[in-house]
Amino acid sequence: MCGIIGYTTKRTDSVSVALAGLKNLEYRGYDSSGIAFYDGKKLDMVKAKGKISNLEEKLSQMDIASSCAIAHTRWATHGEPSETNAHPHQVGKVTLVHNGIIENYASLKEELIAKGYEFKSQTDTEVATAYIDYCYSLCNNKLQALVDACKGIRGSYAFNVIYEDEPTTIYATRKDSPLVIGYSHEGNFAASDISAILSYTNKYSLIDENEFVKITSSIVTFYNEDLTETSNEIKTATWDAAQYQKNGYDHFMLKEIYEQPKVIQDIFNRYYSDCDYSDIHFENFDNIHIVACGSAMHASLVGKYLLQTYAKIPAMVEIASEYRYAEELITPKTLLIVVSQSGETADTLAALRLAKEKGAYVVGIVNAVGSTISREVNKCIYTYAGPEIAVATTKGYTSQVAVFSTLVLNAMKQKGLLDETQEAEIKDELLNIKPKLEQVISQRDTYLDIAKDIYSHKDLFFIGRGIDSTVCMEGSLKLKEISYMHSESYSAGELKHGTISLIEEGTPVISIATNENLFEKTVSNIKETKARGSYTIFVTTDAHDAVDFREFADKTVIVPKTSEFSQAIPVVMALQLIAYETAKLRGCDIDKPRNLAKSVTVE
Ligand code: G6P
Repeated sequence: MCGIIGYTTKRTDSVSVALAGLKNLEYRGYDSSGIAFYDGKKLDMVKAKGKISNLEEKLSQMDIASSCAIAHTRWATHGEPSETNAHPHQVGKVTLVHNGIIENYASLKEELIAKGYEFKSQTDTEVATAYIDYCYSLCNNKLQALVDACKGIRGSYAFNVIYEDEPTTIYATRKDSPLVIGYSHEGNFAASDISAILSYTNKYSLIDENEFVKITSSIVTFYNEDLTETSNEIKTATWDAAQYQKNGYDHFMLKEIYEQPKVIQDIFNRYYSDCDYSDIHFENFDNIHIVACGSAMHASLVGKYLLQTYAKIPAMVEIASEYRYAEELITPKTLLIVVSQSGETADTLAALRLAKEKGAYVVGIVNAVGSTISREVNKCIYTYAGPEIAVATTKGYTSQVAVFSTLVLNAMKQKGLLDETQEAEIKDELLNIKPKLEQVISQRDTYLDIAKDIYSHKDLFFIGRGIDSTVCMEGSLKLKEISYMHSESYSAGELKHGTISLIEEGTPVISIATNENLFEKTVSNIKETKARGSYTIFVTTDAHDAVDFREFADKTVIVPKTSEFSQAIPVVMALQLIAYETAKLRGCDIDKPRNLAKSVTVE
């Protein structure tokens, strides 16, 4: 993971600009950070353990005038979070920040030690730094040294390099880790993503894999591996800097929860009325695989449920890091749907590359425009949810569910499974979803009340059947991620086959029942836990308001009834808000939970 930014400018504010950009990359990792900068005489370096605010504090005590800086925020892979392991790393004439993993660092390190290099840190990046320095010592050409080093390196990387003897130029390259180039009148950037530079420019270029870039304050030049100059399109970003601010909300997560009614409405308006799925012919495929990680995998389970239940198309959902073990099942008649908010998740990317090698057709459901996954799939369906900053995803997940709904409705149309009346009803519902989702948000007091009941408990369970069981998985993950409470999600009918032994007096059980046909069975399962002392929070829809819930529920959350094409969305929004209020009561760092990173670019 990790975030990197480099900035070279005609002015002397490279450190403050790079630092401001780095803060927007903090979602990529936040266990330590560091910056190297040229102060007119020498390359200096400052590092700090912990969040970027610690680095900022150190820098604020210095009077720095610098025209070139490279900076890094870290999510530790090799070596504990410490100043020694923090980037930048400096070896010989080379200073480097790196996002990714050097897989063959151990053997390279041995080779370099034999040549006389010494290492201070436990990181793979220091080895890469030494290796570039070694290559530079052989060819005395900065671009060539980088090309040569990349040939000897196995793994993933986005590199920003400064050579001691040309300290106002940044050399950059990437493979399997993201990097964009930004252009402004005052100077030029190379950063892990556009969010880092949007306050300064919306003009950017994407770097292709194994492309090499020389960046000065006035000129950016791209090269291929033969060091022939290449041209690269300059794009204009549509997201703006204001979207990266909290805009009055206590947390980004809360802001993003509140954005959902609009985001979801926009998706239904865009893809339902005018969907362009004409190139996805479900009948042309023998099998459908849906592959993703984390919450995107949970959204995939909703997609699979809808596809099977309504379009009568069987599908397999696989966790991306496990997909390669199902390699035998991938054929040229496979439709693979990969789902990713960031579009950069290494496991998901590896799955899509494997499937493409085997001749499968790959569709991506992706949020980040221009991301690696969006560029490598055969067809990309964007969720257009806008930037998501909180590490725990909210609108990322619900927007993926919404896209799946439109995809499944399209599959139903293709198969003649959607009659006119049904279509008109669903269309009316989806095109008028916003007030229903706003209603879910308006019940903040209910969520706070529930949070007060559960926040001091150690364990918690989520149960549901059918589509609700998949929503339980996301609700449970949300709570774990941000409140650090132990929580498990179970299909309601499965609990009695073992896990019910963990229910004791007062154990909170959040139970979901939205589907009429499954309602009674779920209530029976709730009663089984109640009989063993559970404290039951019952989530259901306003279609069941004639039922007296008091018999089995200690607290009730009512969300608006919709068809199953959108029901997961209001339910999960209620669960997001319960998790949010609980984490707040537990004093957790909601936007940056411990040990996590948002964009997981390592396998
Ligand atoms: C990380 C995040 C999760 C996210 C998962 C997949 O683990 O912490 O919140 O769901 O990656 O991310 P993607 O960007 O591929 O949707």
